[in-house]
Amino acid sequence: MGIQIPRGTQDILPGEIEKWQYVEQKARQLCESYCYEEIRTPIFEATELFVRGVGETTDIVQKEMYTFKDRGNRSITLRPEGTAPTVRSFVEKKLYGLPEQPTKLYYIGPMFRYERPQTGRMRQFYQFGVEALGSNDPAIDAEVIALAIDFYKSLGLKELTLVINSLGDTESRTKHKQALIEHFKPHIDQFCDDCQIRLEKNPLRILDCKKDAENPLIQEAPAILNYLNAESSAYFNKVKQYLKEMKIDFVVDPTLVRGLDYYNHTAFEIMSNAKGFGAITTLSGGGRYNGLVQEIGGPETAGIGFALSIERLLMALDAEGVALPIDKEIDCYLIAHGEQAHEKATVLLYELRKAGFKADQDYLNRKIKGQFKSADRKKAKFTAILGESELENNTIAIKEMLSGEQTEIPMKEIIAFFQSKLT
Ligand code: HAM
Repeated sequence: MGIQIPRGTQDILPGEIEKWQYVEQKARQLCESYCYEEIRTPIFEATELFVRGVGETTDIVQKEMYTFKDRGNRSITLRPEGTAPTVRSFVEKKLYGLPEQPTKLYYIGPMFRYERPQTGRMRQFYQFGVEALGSNDPAIDAEVIALAIDFYKSLGLKELTLVINSLGDTESRTKHKQALIEHFKPHIDQFCDDCQIRLEKNPLRILDCKKDAENPLIQEAPAILNYLNAESSAYFNKVKQYLKEMKIDFVVDPTLVRGLDYYNHTAFEIMSNAKGFGAITTLSGGGRYNGLVQEIGGPETAGIGFALSIERLLMALDAEGVALPIDKEIDCYLIAHGEQAHEKATVLLYELRKAGFKADQDYLNRKIKGQFKSADRKKAKFTAILGESELENNTIAIKEMLSGEQTEIPMKEIIAFFQSKLT
C-alpha cells in the first residue's frame, strides 16, 4: 500500500482550493476595513508557551498537543492555536511600545491538535483569528464580535447564533471557583479522573468536560453570572448594549466557559443552526484575556480576540447551500496548428500573460478539436487560433466562445485587442 495522508488532515485540491482563497481574501479585506494588520508567527513554538498560555489543566495541553524534542533537546510544540503565539510576539517584539495602540492583529494559518478526528474536527485545521491588544474598552469587545459576525454574513451565512457570557474579573472568578468546588466536591467520585484533578486546580474545566457533559450536576452548577462583581457586571452590560445598538442578535448562556484558561470578562461563540451541519455546531469562539500578556512576561495589557476554522466555515456554507462566486474562467486559450504555430503561440502566450491576461495553450500535441475541448474545460472566454495561413499573413483568428463570433486581426495587435475587449 502507498503512503497515506495522516489521520485528521486533508489535501485541499484545485476545485476546492478556490473556495479557500476566496474566503481568505474576504477575511483580509474585512480585517483591512476594521484596521487589523496581519501577523505571521512560526508554526512551532516552545512548549512552555502553551502550557503557560493556554493552561495546564486544559484538554489542549493535557492531551492534544503535538510535542517533540528537537535535535537540540528543546521541547517544541506545533501551535494548537494562535493567541498565545501572537501574545508571545507582542511581548518579545515590544509591540506594546508602539505609539499607536491598541495593537490590532489578524492571522490565517494551520493549527494542530491531536483530537479524535470527526466531521469538523481535524488534527490540522486552518484558523482565521484576530487579536486586539491594549484596550479595556467594551467597544472593542463589540468590534471583535461584529467582525466575526460580519465575516460570516458577508459570505452569505444566515443560520447563526451568537452566544455570549461573562467570566468576570479575577475577584468574581475566585468567588465562582469556590462555589464550584463546594458544588462538585461531595459528588466528585461520579466524575472522570480528569475532573477529579480539575476540582481543586480549575473547577471551571469540569463544566466543559466532554466525558461528563451529561451529568446533571453540570447543568445545576452555580452560574458565573451570579458571582460577577459590580464592575464586571457593568462591563458585560456595556458590551451587550453595544451589540443591541449595532443590531447584532445574541443569546446569553451562563454555562459558556470556553476550553482555554486565559479568558475573563467577555466570552463568546458563534454556532451554526443549519440543518445537516453535524454534531459540532461551534463555528468560532473567542473572548477577553486580560492577564495573558503578563503571564507571558509582558506588561499588564488587556486583550480580546476570536478564531474560527475555515474547515467549519466551508461546512456551514455547504449546509446552507451557499455557493461562493468563484470565477474560474480564463481570458484566452491559444490554439496552434503545427509545430511552427506552437512555437509562435508559446511566445505570444508569454506576451499575453505579461500584459496581465489569464491565458493558456496545449502542451500535449493535441489535434485542433482536442485543443478546443481543452479551451472549453478551462472556460476560455476567447480562443486565438494560429494556423499556417495566419502565420503566413502574420495574423491571428480570434473566436469569442460565448457568441461564436470570429475575427482575424494582425498578430501584433493581439494585446490591444484583448485590452479593448476585457479591461
Ligand atoms: P478555540 O475555541 O479552541 O479557541 O478554537 C476556535 C475555533 O477553531 C473553533 O471555534 C473552531 O472553529 C476551530 N477549531 C478548533 N479546533 C478545531 C479542530 N480540531 N478542527 C477544526 N476546527 C477547529 C481558540 O483557538 C482561541 N485561540 C480563540 C481566541 C482568539 N480567543 C481569543 N483570541
